[in-house]
Amino acid sequence: MTNQTVPKTAKLTFGDQELDLPVMVGSEGEVALDIRQLRAKTGAITYDPGLGNTGACQSKITFLDGEQGILRYAGYSIEELAQKSNFVEVMWLLLHQQLPTAAELEQFTHEVTHHTMLHENLKQLFSSLPKAGHPMAVCAAAVGALSTFYQNASANSPQQNWIDAVRLLAKMPTIAAYSYKHSIGQPFMYPRNDLSYAANILHMMFATPCEKYEPNPVMARALDLLLILHADHEQNCSTSTVRTVGSSGANLFASVSAGISALWGPLHGGANQAVIEMLMSIRDGKRSAREFMELAKKKDSGVRLMGFGHRVYKNYDPRALILKKACYDVLGQLGRKDPLLDIALELEQIALSDNYFIERKLYPNVDFYSGIIYKALGIPVEMFTVFFAIGRMPGWIAQWLEYQRDPEAKITRPRQIYMGATPRAYGQVEKR
Ligand code: SDX
Repeated sequence: MTNQTVPKTAKLTFGDQELDLPVMVGSEGEVALDIRQLRAKTGAITYDPGLGNTGACQSKITFLDGEQGILRYAGYSIEELAQKSNFVEVMWLLLHQQLPTAAELEQFTHEVTHHTMLHENLKQLFSSLPKAGHPMAVCAAAVGALSTFYQNASANSPQQNWIDAVRLLAKMPTIAAYSYKHSIGQPFMYPRNDLSYAANILHMMFATPCEKYEPNPVMARALDLLLILHADHEQNCSTSTVRTVGSSGANLFASVSAGISALWGPLHGGANQAVIEMLMSIRDGKRSAREFMELAKKKDSGVRLMGFGHRVYKNYDPRALILKKACYDVLGQLGRKDPLLDIALELEQIALSDNYFIERKLYPNVDFYSGIIYKALGIPVEMFTVFFAIGRMPGWIAQWLEYQRDPEAKITRPRQIYMGATPRAYGQVEKR
């Protein structure tokens, strides 16, 4: 439908009622029926488990077109940003919905760089946790704990929100690296202010006090690309969680800590870890690629083709296309081969010619190839979703701030259809 042909209202006939629902049209032509008066006028609510047909907000940050496989941050295509921008600039773009001037970028980079250290007392949190604990649990705890160090964090102060946003963007890599160092019993490496954002992450992850470590520039560029591609994705599960927690007036740290927990799930950000484990199981001969794909088509097999399918993309995820090419570039520049890439390509080739996947419009998503690159950078599998969280941090914050500024924002409180027991009298336990 074009803007010209979209009617101004949608007629709803409900019993003897006839309702005109206002129609909203987004800047990219998306159409929404405004049902805010529905219950007041009809007593009825809508029913949409998973909210796949329900707009929860208006936003100017990120646009997806699932049918065309389009992703834009504030109007800039992900393809162009991946090629020409860098992650710190993309942070600014998402937070302000404008690219920064040279002076703004320099000042912002300085601010983020000079907030990367953690309070020395926060370091004790890591050592108090079991080494084998999943780093997503450690990161959720550490981010939540930031509000104990910055006690004036509050949702209704724009100045306070900005400094808390900078702190989170700056400290998330440090928290991530410390969770990894704790898990392998190595000393924490302080951030280095002379390194770029991505190079600093590699430094904190892999340097030791015993020898000089200079991050590989090819790896730093590859990591910067991964972070750009993960930076925001409109109202996905974890971002909706961050908005929902923020809608109660909870501070930014508490809201993002909840977002980290939501991202952890294998159907969401946890899929990147699940993809590599899937590829490894095929590599190690547990079953062939073809046998795996046959199982993935059976509902009761408990096997899913991880990294495939998406609630919005019913076409190739544009991020997956960029990452697939980046796998060849990074492995080539590092002079490496990875049999897992060959297996991934075989699975994709089988899926894209199999009716089960074609009919359901299941294509590779962002998680299908990302793990191949994380692995090439030396990042351990259990840290993959933590790196997704580092990338998604500016998106979570930008969406949370947009919610705080939204004049239509209300506390998130969906309704339900009650299907339980109807009224009945209480019977004494002896008579039950
Ligand atoms: C991310 O929302 C975002 O934007 C998320 C994200 C972001 O940047 O924030 O893009 C990041 O989370 C990517 C998705 C990562 N998850 C996975 O790769 C896990 C595997 N994929 C799925 O489980 C699934 O595709 C979802 C969860 C991603 C989407 O699920 P939906 O939209 O609820 O679709 P569905 O589960 O109802 O599937 C529709 C059909 C079903 O079959 P039928 O009931 O029609 O017979 O497709 C089947 C599903 O069984 N199906 C799959 C499948 N994904 C869906 N069958 C086999 N393998 C799969 N991967």
